[in-house]
Amino acid sequence: MNTNKNNKRIRIFDTTLRDGEQAPGASLFPEEKIRIARQLAKMGVDTIEPGFPISSPGDFYAVQQISKELQGIEICGFARSVKADIDEAVRATEAAAKRRLHLFLSSSDIHLDFQLRKSRQQVIEMAKSMVSYAKSQVDQIEFSPMDATRTGEEFLFEVLEAAIAEGATILNIPDTVGYALPEEYGRMFRRVREGVRGGNTVEYSAHCHNDLGLAVANSLAAIAAGVTHVEVTVNGVGERAGNCSLEELVMAIETRKETIGVETGIVMGEIFNTSRMVSRVMHFPIAFNKPIVGRNAFQHEAGIHQDGLLKNRNTYEIMDPEKLGIPRSMIILGKHSGRHALKHRVNQFGLQLNNEELEDLYNRFKVKADEQKIVTDDQLMELVGEAAHGQ
Ligand code: KIV
Ligand code: ZN
Repeated sequence: MNTNKNNKRIRIFDTTLRDGEQAPGASLFPEEKIRIARQLAKMGVDTIEPGFPISSPGDFYAVQQISKELQGIEICGFARSVKADIDEAVRATEAAAKRRLHLFLSSSDIHLDFQLRKSRQQVIEMAKSMVSYAKSQVDQIEFSPMDATRTGEEFLFEVLEAAIAEGATILNIPDTVGYALPEEYGRMFRRVREGVRGGNTVEYSAHCHNDLGLAVANSLAAIAAGVTHVEVTVNGVGERAGNCSLEELVMAIETRKETIGVETGIVMGEIFNTSRMVSRVMHFPIAFNKPIVGRNAFQHEAGIHQDGLLKNRNTYEIMDPEKLGIPRSMIILGKHSGRHALKHRVNQFGLQLNNEELEDLYNRFKVKADEQKIVTDDQLMELVGEAAHGQ
């Protein structure tokens, strides 16, 4: 992490263990949650939302253990806007040195009509009474109007105003179904801050889903609009197409910080390990072409690219994978690779070939690459051996 005193610090709120775990097939045992939480703390996230305490005894236990153990980090208890949920979330996070309580309540008409089956007036009453109840027990209260981006502005303002009046300190305005466009999402935060009574007395948090592939773009738009907390998951895991991906957002901020003017506290060198751990433990594979952590994210097969990289890595790379803890194996040897890349790889194994040997190896290599697309290092060494024995 590079710090610049002019850059504003964005707080990374990790919800891999709560919203991320809602990805189909990704659910975790408490011990697995605890292991991942330790790694998240090591990576430097500011807040962990470790689960949904009322949802099961196992989740309650995981949140409780994580609250006891990770004293250096803020722990967030998660609850619907109902007393029983709040009580469980308060109990589960009791031992945390720093904690916040996160209450959510649907606000869009479609949710009110078909899910909550409540009137707008009833929702306002629930927001008031439950924020007030939570506030009587915990200082930091985050309030989320669920499906905010499909909620009419007037009612959204009303709900948020009610939450602020009862003591909410952080307003999280989620794009629950990944519907917003970046400009709209940023504008919404600006309008809320200006238009809601008390809107400039609280902090703001963004929570984006990736249904249209816009979760990172929307989170960046929210940051540009003054949001200081961003809710993310490792590898972007989460319901449907997932949540805003931690590594993508953090690296966009890091790579373009001069332009964006903000920074995070994430330890870059832990990103890759964390990503692999979450993928392994959740049995959730990472797409080869996933930005930052995908297998191909720093690999180059085209001969022209490989040649450029060997002269200067910045020709085709905008980040240094080694800083992210990614083992460097930037060149994939395949049928598009040229002599230069082949020679470089052979040299990396401590071998020197004269021009004739290299030409011979190159010809054998091309045949192999045509047969099987990619030539591994072991196979390359076999080809070198054959060349040396004049086969
Ligand atoms: O996506 C969502 O709306 C949520 C909230 C409960 C914050 O996960
Ligand atoms: Zn969500």
